[in-house]
Amino acid sequence: MMVHSSVSSVVKNSVATDAREFLASCRTLIDAELDRLIPKESESPQRVHRAIRWSVFAGGKRFRPALLTAVGQTFGARLDQLLRTASALEMIHTYSLIHDDLPSMDNDELRRGRATCHVKFDEATAILAGDALQALAFQTIAEDEMLAPELRIQLVAEVARASGIPNGMVAGQALDLEAESRDVKGDELETIHHRKTGALIRAAARCGAMIAGATADELEAITSYATNLGLLFQITDDLLDVTATAEDLGKTPGKDARAQKATFPALYGIEATRAQLKTVHTAARNALETVARETRLLQSIVDFILQRQV
Ligand code: IPE
Ligand code: IPE
Ligand code: MG
Ligand code: MG
Ligand code: MG
Repeated sequence: MMVHSSVSSVVKNSVATDAREFLASCRTLIDAELDRLIPKESESPQRVHRAIRWSVFAGGKRFRPALLTAVGQTFGARLDQLLRTASALEMIHTYSLIHDDLPSMDNDELRRGRATCHVKFDEATAILAGDALQALAFQTIAEDEMLAPELRIQLVAEVARASGIPNGMVAGQALDLEAESRDVKGDELETIHHRKTGALIRAAARCGAMIAGATADELEAITSYATNLGLLFQITDDLLDVTATAEDLGKTPGKDARAQKATFPALYGIEATRAQLKTVHTAARNALETVARETRLLQSIVDFILQRQV
């Protein structure tokens, strides 16, 4: 694809091993694809389209699409087979952020370094922007002509399970809100994190493997890898809420303690949380041991999440 030619060398390079470089390249590709897939601001209903673009193109690491692409390429998929589903994952993720920030949920005013969607526009528009992104995500996968129809159905089911109930993101968000008003135990906290954040990250990795036609054993290893990676991602998110600045994060830190959220630092303290991070990091890396492919990039992604500052 023409638009990608100048930026895709790292992504196309089958020996890409550095997560930071890979993420940066992926980001350019995914942003171009999202721009193509999302209606322009000039199109009616303009306010909803402006709100969607406000939130989607505010920045963001594009971690879920990058993970899908990394796993897909590890098992031999082509970029043009991965880009649509990868973009769909980012749509679901951005929808989850828009709704997560609503006054009735986490009530946040800063996201990706700018005003949250409901602050910039209004609550009804933010709700509709999230709803529309979710629908567009499933439409994008269903209409992806690079993939066989049966595979599209499997991907839609995978992403729907990861997004919804009883074990997906919406379920996790429900448990997260409910946990504000009571004490949770360690295993309950892990369940919340696996669902609200881990499920989509796991689905991203699994979709990449499914598109590439990975074997059942490979898919199992990737599922274990990404389950640990998802937990690692939310524990670092909890930690950054305590240790980082608004400038670095692009969102307001200190909110979890104020909202009495169930988090790893709240339950265990910062030092013990860091020790748990190491354990989960090791588990994610070890899950790749049975995979007889070049997994340096996937290993590097685990290290990147452990060390991330944003
Ligand atoms: C933030 O996700 C919300 C969580 C699920 C922890 P990211 O840290 O991936 O946010 P962006 O996409 O980079 O803004
Ligand atoms: C978010 O968890 C999980 C989502 C499904 C969006 P948080 O509420 O901790 O995410 P941030 O810190 O607001 O990005
Ligand atoms: Mg939240
Ligand atoms: Mg939040
Ligand atoms: Mg958080």
